[in-house]
Amino acid sequence: MQIFGVDIGGSGIKGAPVDVETGGLVEERCKVLTPHPATPGGVADGVVQVVEHFGWSGPVGLTFPGVVTGGALILTAANVDRAWIDTDARALFSERLGGLPVTVVNDADAAGLAEMRFGAGRGRRGTVILLTFGTGIGSAVFVDGVLVANTELGHLELDGHEAEKRASSKAKEDHDLSWEQWARRVQKYLAHLEMLFSPELFILGGGVSRKAEKFLPLIKDLRAPVVPAELQNNAGIVGAAMRAAEGA
Ligand code: BGC
Repeated sequence: MQIFGVDIGGSGIKGAPVDVETGGLVEERCKVLTPHPATPGGVADGVVQVVEHFGWSGPVGLTFPGVVTGGALILTAANVDRAWIDTDARALFSERLGGLPVTVVNDADAAGLAEMRFGAGRGRRGTVILLTFGTGIGSAVFVDGVLVANTELGHLELDGHEAEKRASSKAKEDHDLSWEQWARRVQKYLAHLEMLFSPELFILGGGVSRKAEKFLPLIKDLRAPVVPAELQNNAGIVGAAMRAAEGA
C-alpha cells in the first residue's frame, strides 16, 4: 500500500509517497521551506505545494511538532506559531487538499513508529525511548512495541531549565557548545530519563544522528544502550504514512 507522508519541520516541509510495507520512499522526496512565522495558513500552503508536486490523490499522513490528539487536534506549539493551538489540523489540511483523507501525528512519535518497524528499534521489546534532537527535543516512548503517544520529555526540567532549551541541537548552536560540552548535557538528560523510566534502549534521532560518531562515544555510565536512529531524514515521512495507513 502506498500512502503520502509529510514531515513538517522547523526549516522544511518534506514529503513523498511511501510504501508502508517496506518503509521505502516510492519517489524522491520534495521539500519546500517552512514559512516564518509558521502559521497554520502558511504551513498549509507549503503542504499543498508538496502534495500537488506528485499529483497525489490518496490518504495523507502528516507530522506536527507539538501534541496532537485523535489524529487531528493540535494542543501545543512550542516551536511554531501559537495560532496552531486548538486548530483542527486534519480539517485544515484535508480542506486545503481538496478533501483527501488526512491523519496528523506528533513528529517524534512518527519518527519512533518508523524506527521501531524499520530501523534501530526493530523487534525490540520492553521500554524503548526515541529522542529527536533538533529545534526542540521530541520523544517517543514504546512499551513492547506499542507507542505511548504524545510524551513530551523534551520539556522535563534539567538544571532549572527545560531540557530542550539546554540540550537540543539548536541549544548547541545558540550557545556555541563544543561536542564535549553538549554531550555532557545530553548525558545528564539521559541519566535523568533512565532514573525515571529504566528503558531497555535509547534511540537518538534528528539531524545529529548523522554525526553520532562525534558525541555517542562521549555518552557513558548509562545502563541502557544508546544507539543512533537509522532512517534519519526520512523517519518522519515514513512514520506519518504508517500512521495514516492504520485508518486507510
Ligand atoms: C514539542 C514536541 C516535539 C518536539 C520536536 C517540542 O518542543 O513540544 O511536541 O515533538 O519539540 O519537534
